Amino acid sequence: MPTLLSSPHFTLFFLPPHPVLITLFAERFSDIVLTNLPAAAIRLRAQMMKAAICTGYGSADVVRIVDVPKPVAGDDEILIRVRATTVTSGDWRIRSLEMPPGFGPMARLIFGITKPRQPILGSEVAGEVEAVGKDVSKFRVGDRVVAFDGSGLRCHAEFKCIRESGNVVRIPDQMDFTTAAALPFGGTTAMDFLRRVGLTASEKILVIGASGSVGSAAVQLARHRGAHVTGVCSSANVEMVSSLGAERVIDYGKEDVTSLDPDFDVVMETVGALNLTQSLRLLRSGGRAAMIAGSLSDMLTASWKSKSRGLKAVVGPAAEKHEDLQEIVALAAEGIFRPVIEHTYAFEQIAEAHRRVQQRRKRGNLVITLP
Ligand SMILES: NC(=O)c1ccc[n+]([C@@H]2O[C@H](COP(=O)([O-])OP(=O)(O)OC[C@H]3O[C@@H](n4cnc5c(N)ncnc54)[C@H](OP(=O)(O)O)[C@@H]3O)[C@@H](O)[C@H]2O)c1
Repeated sequence: MPTLLSSPHFTLFFLPPHPVLITLFAERFSDIVLTNLPAAAIRLRAQMMKAAICTGYGSADVVRIVDVPKPVAGDDEILIRVRATTVTSGDWRIRSLEMPPGFGPMARLIFGITKPRQPILGSEVAGEVEAVGKDVSKFRVGDRVVAFDGSGLRCHAEFKCIRESGNVVRIPDQMDFTTAAALPFGGTTAMDFLRRVGLTASEKILVIGASGSVGSAAVQLARHRGAHVTGVCSSANVEMVSSLGAERVIDYGKEDVTSLDPDFDVVMETVGALNLTQSLRLLRSGGRAAMIAGSLSDMLTASWKSKSRGLKAVVGPAAEKHEDLQEIVALAAEGIFRPVIEHTYAFEQIAEAHRRVQQRRKRGNLVITLP
């Protein structure tokens, strides 16, 4: 006869909860909540909203628009009625779990082991303040705002809550929601990496992926700093990259970037087409590499590979800084920075936008508009 203590049920019951088990339980629980939403919607119709959720990891087919509870602003939060949002390469990476080489297992721990723990993706929104918490003093109902929330997500919905101390700023009167929503992701990522590599006036920068969201922002911001910009893109985008301020544009279909002379002060790699060694090889003495889509191996070897040659490499996530969002909005208001928008989709077409991002060929940004 097994004693109570040796019973497997007893042991299981009293085992300290393991983080992975907790995660699996949380993911299962979110299934139960989401599949019961239709019933909840009938009871709480007034407090429901439409949101695009990811039902699992995979292709754009996992994206569904469903009714979910409308968020309520906490004491220090504002509730934004979303008028425009975007589908970014970040959303594609979380939805598909296609990460730069080496980051896959880590990504499951961060985003969810079997499916996205936060099923509503989207990191940037523009809209109107619909409600404010009792301690909010900086914003009022009716304010037009743009917000960037890469860690909180939940922007692919009719409403989004964010703390007033979070990454949210007012939109200038003359700026529309579509433009505002396309500013933060590419603009602040490019701004952060340009600062970290310390690009100065009259230096030479090579931007690989100059037609993407980050790349098209980097070309404009580098030009604004007075740098000499060379952009790399496909032939279809040469004219556009040139119009953004690149002095020279290399069509990667015609010219092998890896065989360029080591003539650049900064190489900004936004595609994952060149690894760290290849990027460092293009730098002149004292040069810096910004590996925006760098692999885990690039990250782990960045310090010794660059320092041993008297160079510098920056790999890893961009910081989300309130002052960067403020600056990019101000630059856009002055007409110095203009987000490239390839296409605007209605909210119902959001899966189409996911499909386009996944091709990794989009020009700038894809905006989703809501009524
Ligand atoms: N570290 C961070 O914090 C951070 C933040 C944001 C984004 N990212 C990463 O940065 C990368 C870029 O993001 P994104 O949103 O800018 O991507 P995106 O908008 O999808 O842009 C990709 C661009 O790359 C171009 N391209 C494709 N193959 C190329 C090649 N071999 N050489 C040159 N250009 C090429 C494509 O244009 P063509 O049609 O002309 O080829 C396209 O315009 C992603 O991997 C993303 O995950 C990292």
